[in-house]
Amino acid sequence: MNIFMTGATGFIGGTIARRLLDDGHSLRSLVRDAEKGGKLAAFGVEPVAGSLDDAALLTAEARRADAVINTANSDHRGAVVAFLDGLAGSNKPFIHTSGSSIVADDAHGDVASGKIYDEDTPFEPVPGKKARVEIDRMIRDARQRGVRSIVVCPTMIYGNGLGLARDSAQIPGLAKRAKASGVVRHVGKGLNIWSNVHVEDVADIYRLALAKAPAGAFYFAENGEASYRDVCAAIARRLKLGEPQVWPFEEAAKELGENSAAYTFGSNSRVRGKRTRSELGWQPKHASATAWIETELPL
Ligand SMILES: NC(=O)c1ccc[n+]([C@@H]2O[C@H](COP(=O)([O-])OP(=O)(O)OC[C@H]3O[C@@H](n4cnc5c(N)ncnc54)[C@H](OP(=O)(O)O)[C@@H]3O)[C@@H](O)[C@H]2O)c1
Repeated sequence: MNIFMTGATGFIGGTIARRLLDDGHSLRSLVRDAEKGGKLAAFGVEPVAGSLDDAALLTAEARRADAVINTANSDHRGAVVAFLDGLAGSNKPFIHTSGSSIVADDAHGDVASGKIYDEDTPFEPVPGKKARVEIDRMIRDARQRGVRSIVVCPTMIYGNGLGLARDSAQIPGLAKRAKASGVVRHVGKGLNIWSNVHVEDVADIYRLALAKAPAGAFYFAENGEASYRDVCAAIARRLKLGEPQVWPFEEAAKELGENSAAYTFGSNSRVRGKRTRSELGWQPKHASATAWIETELPL
């Protein structure tokens, strides 16, 4: 297939690109940085200069491709609209990357939630995540416009990226801060629980979805879960540091930004990829983020 991607220089997109190239597909990807474009070409992906704001370019690329995979930004509505306009009536696949903070709460690290969501569980997003949920809905509804539209919704992703970007933001970000300060910190008490998934298992979902997901499908990508306290304890063991420390929410928000402190690091997000397994036959191979941290997290 001739596939147009966004985000192939990134963590998720680079890993998907590696796998799709190995499967024999031809890839073009949007690239906003000329130097990275050169590296991407050497990697085997044809760079297309531009940004997510270049709607006409995205629509034209969608028209000429056999499929589009959007991994650059879960929240960029304009890019999604442009792709769907280009794909309408074609029944070609469009795979979009959402993120499981759509079910996040306002725990600020201090509560372990008992709420677990699969793809069919109704939920009301917190105000900060409504726009993302509306984008996901618009994409799923595009099945009525003749698009084989699919949303993949990963949880906290761990593992080393197989493309130009090795690191994800969450776990390596905490580890970098810990190395610099000598202390591992979790937002609040760190009791909040996140599901997680290995980046190579995430890439397999896109491969399967490309081949057989029905129009309008939605899939959580998850294979395990841990509290932030347990994640931080594993980082502390890996870096040979002391017990993880409380990071008061207001202090964390100053450094990480309010949104990131609340929803990326301070919330609960417990999901189950029920349809990912039953509809796609996905069989993840990696089952423990904390084991990965203790043995493989790059130092
Ligand atoms: N990593 C996770 O655990 C996770 C889990 C769930 C959802 N998500 C979501 O998935 C998306 C991708 O995550 P990631 O971890 O792969 O991030 P990443 O490593 O930062 O990669 C983002 C990619 O998108 C490109 N990009 C960003 N904005 C762009 C723009 N305006 N125009 C063109 N290209 C643009 C970046 O290009 P450059 O190389 O030029 O920066 C890069 O290739 C994010 O929205 C994230 O919130 C991530």
